[in-house]
Amino acid sequence: MRKQAFFGAGLLTIMLGACGGSAEQTVVEQIVVRDRGETTPVAASAGDAPADLIAAGEAAFAMCTGCHVAESGEASMAGPNLYGVVGRPAGSLDDFAYSEALAGSGITWDAAQLDRYIADPTAAVSGTIMSVGAVQDDERRAAIIAYLESLSE
Ligand code: HEC
Repeated sequence: MRKQAFFGAGLLTIMLGACGGSAEQTVVEQIVVRDRGETTPVAASAGDAPADLIAAGEAAFAMCTGCHVAESGEASMAGPNLYGVVGRPAGSLDDFAYSEALAGSGITWDAAQLDRYIADPTAAVSGTIMSVGAVQDDERRAAIIAYLESLSE
């Protein structure tokens, strides 16, 4: 929000400058460049607010709940129960009929592996039967993974 406000101020200055005459043009350009420079280091890492991130991940997980539960002791549905999935070998729940591709993948789920799989399941594990549910947005994936990491005893 603050970034946009600053940038907006810069743009407004350009417009005013344009009305004021060509002599002010150079100064105006400098202001815009400086504004851009200031915004670059502001980009906060998502890990700064774990509680918020987990909450965002729980909300984003709504797009997974058509196939996955993520609760201790619940039966798997069209997809395996994802409670405690972080640290678990891929394809290892007894109550779910996994693809051979995933069960034989040798993956143990950590944040990096989950990130690859959720970004593009079939690219990460060729032959996996999770063919929908990919999340392209980096921040949304990070939030979902933070949420999954929060689910364990
Ligand atoms: C249309 C149903 C469907 C949707 C939607 C879906 N999945 Fe899946 N998911 C599956 C299936 C089926 C598997 C098992 C894949 C296999 O055996 O190859 C799976 C497997 C997984 C696994 C591996 C679990 C294990 O025990 O090894 C993870 C992690 C996962 N899904 C995460 C997600 C996330 C996160 C979302 C939402 C962004 C999601 N899935 C959306 C069907 C789905």
